[in-house]
Amino acid sequence: MISAVSEQETKLLLSSDEISKRVSQLGREITQDYKDKDLVIVGVLKGGFIFLADLIRHIKLEAEIDFIRVSSYKEGMEARDIELISDTAISLKDRHVLLVEDLIDTCRTLDFIKKTIMSKNPASFQICALIKKKKSRETKIAVNYIGFEIDDKFIIGYGTDLAEKGRNLPDIYVIE
Ligand code: IMP
Ligand code: MG
Repeated sequence: MISAVSEQETKLLLSSDEISKRVSQLGREITQDYKDKDLVIVGVLKGGFIFLADLIRHIKLEAEIDFIRVSSYKEGMEARDIELISDTAISLKDRHVLLVEDLIDTCRTLDFIKKTIMSKNPASFQICALIKKKKSRETKIAVNYIGFEIDDKFIIGYGTDLAEKGRNLPDIYVIE
């Protein structure tokens, strides 16, 4: 375990094996659902980059990939205002956009990104999140593909971080 992270109490939540099985299922579903569509996959940086990299290799379609970068967490677990750091670069107009996000907590980030992308007039907009926390249930945004639904705990690993540490852990851990 990385030192900044090992000072915290951590517990394994999802092993890399479990994650990889679920990611390949999601990829198969997406392949089926988008088989006749002009698909653009938009990854959310930084947290979504590992999930995106694994997922797209299970999507057997000629998809175009782009990224959007937002920041919502400062040092650690405290939320702050969302900032658009880098917008998508390719045209999304009249195209079928699938947003790939690491995790959904309060849905604030998603709400912000959805507005940003909808302003570009895509043909459709759907969301694929590896993890959805249970507290986000009451929010109005529909998430079309969900890898895992988890309790309201802070997690790290597989792209997700605590103060920028832990993204490279192959498994996902809960910080107690
Ligand atoms: P939301 O805006 O509250 O839905 O939070 C979404 C973003 O906050 C995610 O994309 C993550 O980058 C970050 N985040 C939320 N919960 C966690 C967590 O438990 N661990 C690490 N990052 C988190
Ligand atoms: Mg994120």
